Amino acid sequence: MPQKMINVIRFHEYGGPEALKHERIPCPEPKDEEVLIRIHAAGVLPADWKLRQGLFKEVRSIRFPYIPGTSFAGIVEDVGAGVTNFRKGQQVFGRSTTGTYAEYTVASTDFLVLKPHSISFDEAATISGGAATAWRALMYDGELKAGDRVLVHGAAGGVGLFAVQFAKWKGAHVIGTASAANVDFVRSLGAETVIDYTSTSFEQVVQDVDLVLDTVGGETLERSWSVVKTGGTIVSLLEQPSLEKAKGLGIKALKPSQLSTKEDLETIAHLFEEEIVKTFIARTFPLHEAGFAHELSQRGHGSGRIVLHISD
Ligand SMILES: NC(=O)c1ccc[n+]([C@@H]2O[C@H](COP(=O)([O-])OP(=O)(O)OC[C@H]3O[C@@H](n4cnc5c(N)ncnc54)[C@H](OP(=O)(O)O)[C@@H]3O)[C@@H](O)[C@H]2O)c1
Repeated sequence: MPQKMINVIRFHEYGGPEALKHERIPCPEPKDEEVLIRIHAAGVLPADWKLRQGLFKEVRSIRFPYIPGTSFAGIVEDVGAGVTNFRKGQQVFGRSTTGTYAEYTVASTDFLVLKPHSISFDEAATISGGAATAWRALMYDGELKAGDRVLVHGAAGGVGLFAVQFAKWKGAHVIGTASAANVDFVRSLGAETVIDYTSTSFEQVVQDVDLVLDTVGGETLERSWSVVKTGGTIVSLLEQPSLEKAKGLGIKALKPSQLSTKEDLETIAHLFEEEIVKTFIARTFPLHEAGFAHELSQRGHGSGRIVLHISD
């Protein structure tokens, strides 16, 4: 029987969005402990274009040609001989290390979870790398407690929109930063205070927070030291904050180092089922327009997650 061919997006060298090529390759086969997924949707994460540009090459080597993407939602098409906890036909979402800008991917069951019935494939593709990142940063790294005051930078983004909702659900007082166009959106997620960072310096409005979740970095991180109270925490997704500065101020400061677990994904799926949390899609693109999706993501503005809608 001729080998089944599938459509994928790959890059053969680091470069701009034009490095992404639409190609056909043989369908991968699952190893014993893997499943083959027919992908319906893939999340477009900032990490995907950063990797494509070579921004991570000092810390992470990749083999070319490379299929980008880690976050997906789809249907189990086949299971490896050793897989007993999933079966063909189940609707799932999760994280893959073999690329998700593709019609099919193989994935370990370690990061695979049943998709909540209440959400679409496009929506489920926003969980890994978005909701899961927010969950870990707040609940593990930030040790968020009910009653804490938390400042979320980039509150309208693919991570921030979940951070606001999770923190609110936990019983925290939530303050978010966003540009004017996204202020109402962030308030609708549950933030008590939303600061338009284009017109107001957040440090003029906010003081004495227990936790800063920084999804912006750079100057925003630097200006955040002054708003955290002694004993508080800064979690930055972009860079390790100065440990020296943290020590001097009596603040815990860290960049998350652990990826989300299957249990994290299951907990988040449960919160979707319970309608405690919802997601937002900024825009969908077909697979062959992945380059446009990257261009949009690289602008670094907007609300919600960009998604590749790969099949119906
Ligand atoms: N280390 C990790 O594990 C990890 C995991 C996930 C993400 N990240 C990183 O975290 C960052 C955010 O990820 P994401 O997926 O949320 O990105 P995203 O979906 O592109 O969202 C970025 C958000 O930042 C906002 N923004 C831009 N400049 C801002 C500023 N000066 N102050 C406040 N908000 C600002 C934008 O809103 P406006 O339109 O309102 O400006 C936009 O909503 C990315 O750099 C990503 O690589 C790291």
